[in-house]
Amino acid sequence: MKKSRIGILTGGGDCAGLNPAMKWVVKTATDDRLQGERGVQYEVIGIRDGWKGLVQADPSRGDSQEWLVPLSQDTVRTWDRTGGTMLGTSRTNPYNPKNDQSKKVLQNIEKLRLDALVAIGGDDTLSVACKLAKEGVKVVGIPKTIDKDLWGTDYTLGFETALNVIVEEIDRLRTTAGSHKRVFVVETMGRTAGWLALEGGESAGAYIILIPEYDFSIDKVNELVLEGRRQGARYDIIVVAEGAKPAGGSETVKDGLIDSFGHKTLGGIGETLAKAIQEGTKLETRSVVLSHLQRGGAPCAYDRRMGRYFGIAAVDLIVKGDFGKMVSYRNGHLTSVPINDVLGKLSLVDVKTQYDTERYNGRRTILSR
Ligand code: F6P
Repeated sequence: MKKSRIGILTGGGDCAGLNPAMKWVVKTATDDRLQGERGVQYEVIGIRDGWKGLVQADPSRGDSQEWLVPLSQDTVRTWDRTGGTMLGTSRTNPYNPKNDQSKKVLQNIEKLRLDALVAIGGDDTLSVACKLAKEGVKVVGIPKTIDKDLWGTDYTLGFETALNVIVEEIDRLRTTAGSHKRVFVVETMGRTAGWLALEGGESAGAYIILIPEYDFSIDKVNELVLEGRRQGARYDIIVVAEGAKPAGGSETVKDGLIDSFGHKTLGGIGETLAKAIQEGTKLETRSVVLSHLQRGGAPCAYDRRMGRYFGIAAVDLIVKGDFGKMVSYRNGHLTSVPINDVLGKLSLVDVKTQYDTERYNGRRTILSR
């Protein structure tokens, strides 16, 4: 039977859902019955630490095995229950103009005899996949990011698990917030996209939700808080996305560092906002940054299921020889889109149809959305 080798890697920020996707790539590719029907015998090789692994895994060097993990049905059997990525990840950009290592990646793909490559990642990881595809590499993408900002798909792995974390933590905060009659500002991740804050805040029943797509006025936030108290609220939960900013202001940046894809590290708006609320309302206000907790823990049922479907769909694309595509979930259906079409644009909250700019919260008219 014809033999074919698939490489698989996870790149960018980790999240829940990566391991289920990898498990189902391996199970589907190496399924005995399917192999018989296809007339092709696939083997799957895991590449450690994202694109860094493909820069390093040169088989002519003695240490290349450190970067490679042969994946059998047995190896991946329990992976769908675990968070993070069993292969590790990195934010290495082989096309970083300051240190271009793309030639090494191309040579290693050749030397490792990879007939196809599955890249699981967000915009950054897939931008590398797209460039490799243009050089002739047979690549298939699987979308993941807790930010859910990837264009071309309604779902990205990790998002629902992150929402569950937001809800669980806010539920915990409610009891202590209520006991002390405090205002709590909860900062979520999401970069320039407000999905985590908006849908997390909606799920948790937050009083105010601030998103990057709509600049807020601190006076208005304070007015809303005081209005709520006049109406009998004992405490307040305010969710703010890390990328949200006051009108006329700019994003809060944690440190001056820029990663190899050119991103700044956002963070700190929650604390600044808490201080401004305490000053403006004289109410005791605390802030909590959920940070990487949102990326941690076991995948929720939805991420296990979507990881499974995305993994299976990725193998379907490989079997069909339909390369340069990212599997995608659109309008309730699994499908695929050219990776090239996904890049350079982000899926952001549509303020007009999804955000209430008066209440600073989700819309209360759903059917007109
Ligand atoms: O893109 C996912 C994400 O978690 C963002 O929401 C966040 O801004 C960023 O990654 C944090 O990156 P790091 O893990 O490098 O701190």
